[in-house]
Amino acid sequence: MSLFWRIFLLNAAVLVAAGALLLLGPVTVSAPVLLTEAMILTGGIAFMLAANAALLRLGLSPLQRVARTMTTTDLLRPSPRPEVAGHGEIAALIETFNTMLDRLEAERAASSARALSAQEAERRRVARELHDEVGQTLTAVLLELKRVAGHAPEPLGEELRQVQEITRGSLDEIRRIARRLRPGVLEELGLVSALTALATETPAPDGLTIRRQLEKDLPELGEEAELVVYRIAQEALTNTVRHARATRLDLSLRHTPGGVELRIRDDGRGFGDVPEGAGLRGMRERALLVGAELFLGPGPRGGTEVRLHVPVPNGSK
Ligand SMILES: Nc1ncnc2c1ncn2[C@@H]1O[C@H](COP(=O)(O)OP(=O)(O)O)[C@@H](O)[C@H]1O
Ligand SMILES: [Mg+2]
Repeated sequence: MSLFWRIFLLNAAVLVAAGALLLLGPVTVSAPVLLTEAMILTGGIAFMLAANAALLRLGLSPLQRVARTMTTTDLLRPSPRPEVAGHGEIAALIETFNTMLDRLEAERAASSARALSAQEAERRRVARELHDEVGQTLTAVLLELKRVAGHAPEPLGEELRQVQEITRGSLDEIRRIARRLRPGVLEELGLVSALTALATETPAPDGLTIRRQLEKDLPELGEEAELVVYRIAQEALTNTVRHARATRLDLSLRHTPGGVELRIRDDGRGFGDVPEGAGLRGMRERALLVGAELFLGPGPRGGTEVRLHVPVPNGSK
């Protein structure tokens, strides 16, 4: 039955019932109206309005459910679709809405996949140029400085050695930046080594201890999923260092039924209700990319917890 007829019939039922009561009941209305008659009529009208409101609410409730879902839908957090209930137009509306959500989620996932892979390619390019161009030049400068300092008279020799130190410092810094941009260890030595390097190389402020517990014999996740785990760990670590004022950070990677779980927990001040920035949304996009589940929220003993569960593809050990 269409929405129009549904609402029309609900209203008609109320009106007919009221009319029948007036016709068949012992109700009279005199002119001028008496106080008791006015009271009975007012009561009757109030009852009719209440019945009408209740019936309308019942008739429109499926629409309200869809409207609620529409306002809370977040394409980065796939949620269960509203159940296709009701009749005619309403069921069709819910179904159309659900198909639209499916399509939007798929499009969103495809476009973030494109954006993320372009970003990774660009990072690789910048890292390679830093390493191959700037790194090589600085290495050459370093060797030349060493040669010149070797047969320069003092105090010039000492000054040259200081310049050499500064140059070595920037060379290290450039290598570190290149490693963060393109985690070569990830491709060469695997996820556990890459996370170990990340935990030891992340510059921690005074008073923050980083502990790690990384299981060794984990199932193969595949290149893409490993990069996702690495990037999410990288962002979570950076966030703790930058925002949490924590004294302790636990980084763990372990085997769970059906997958691998990454967990980063700190004892800092927690998210509070700040809006999610590009970093956290980026984590969600990456997780969606490989069908992983991401939890961002308070830890069991305060602070912040980031938990990522990556399913293991079929066929890997
Ligand atoms: N571990 C954390 N502890 C406390 N606050 C955090 C933590 N991680 C994120 N936040 C809060 O969430 C906000 C959004 O984080 P994010 O999306 O990574 O953006 P950004 O790091 O660029 O500020 C941060 O500005 C910060 O206030
Ligand atoms: Mg951040």
